[in-house]
Amino acid sequence: MTSTPLTVLKLDSSGRKSGSVSRQLSTRLVERFTRQGDVTVIERDVADGLPAVTEEWIGSNFTPSADRSEDQAALLVQSDTLVAELHAADVLVIGMPIYNFGVPASLKSWIDLICRAGETFQYGENGPEGLLSGKRAIVTVASGGVPVGSPMDHATTYLSQVLGFVGITDVTYVSATGLAMDPDAAIKSAETEIDALNITQAQAA
Ligand SMILES: Cc1cc2nc3c(=O)[nH]c(=O)nc-3n(C[C@H](O)[C@H](O)[C@H](O)COP(=O)(O)O)c2cc1C
Repeated sequence: MTSTPLTVLKLDSSGRKSGSVSRQLSTRLVERFTRQGDVTVIERDVADGLPAVTEEWIGSNFTPSADRSEDQAALLVQSDTLVAELHAADVLVIGMPIYNFGVPASLKSWIDLICRAGETFQYGENGPEGLLSGKRAIVTVASGGVPVGSPMDHATTYLSQVLGFVGITDVTYVSATGLAMDPDAAIKSAETEIDALNITQAQAA
């Protein structure tokens, strides 16, 4: 047990609420953290639906906050909440199925809402700089057949690119792949990996 307070953001994106392997694994991983001691868990289910960015939203986002109208500020409330959850988190646990070789559309919607100049990245002398450094992300991936890290996997490479862009470079993937062939073996292997993960290093981040 540890007394170091830790905030975990648990983000799930599978369209399935029951029978979802990525959710089963993200839940198992978060339980490991909560067993450690003083842990606050923020739950965010993006599969419940997030709005797509619109012309008005983009206009509001690109208007300096001091100059935004009330209507413009209201358009950003949901995004502000998602960004605040990220800033509050020490660790992100992301449950991600591979859908059509990439990330689920629900997760892409979340990404579009959290990548905001001045909030999660900024433009410095050398180009964009992420503002969310010092955090760790652990992603539980489920796929029917596409092996994580193979040329067909456009999900983890893309997610790493985005997380790195906002400053989260410590990213671990735990995958259950081949679920369409041998689900029991794939799940067992991922569970073993989760149980063996060194999660105390997240405390120091
Ligand atoms: C819309 C959709 C698209 C999918 N596309 C792929 C794919 O491109 N490659 C793959 O290996 N599996 C694919 N699958 C299978 C899922 O990755 C697999 O069922 C996984 O377990 C889903 O995650 P979940 O168990 O957390 O719901 C797809 C499933 C769905 C529902």
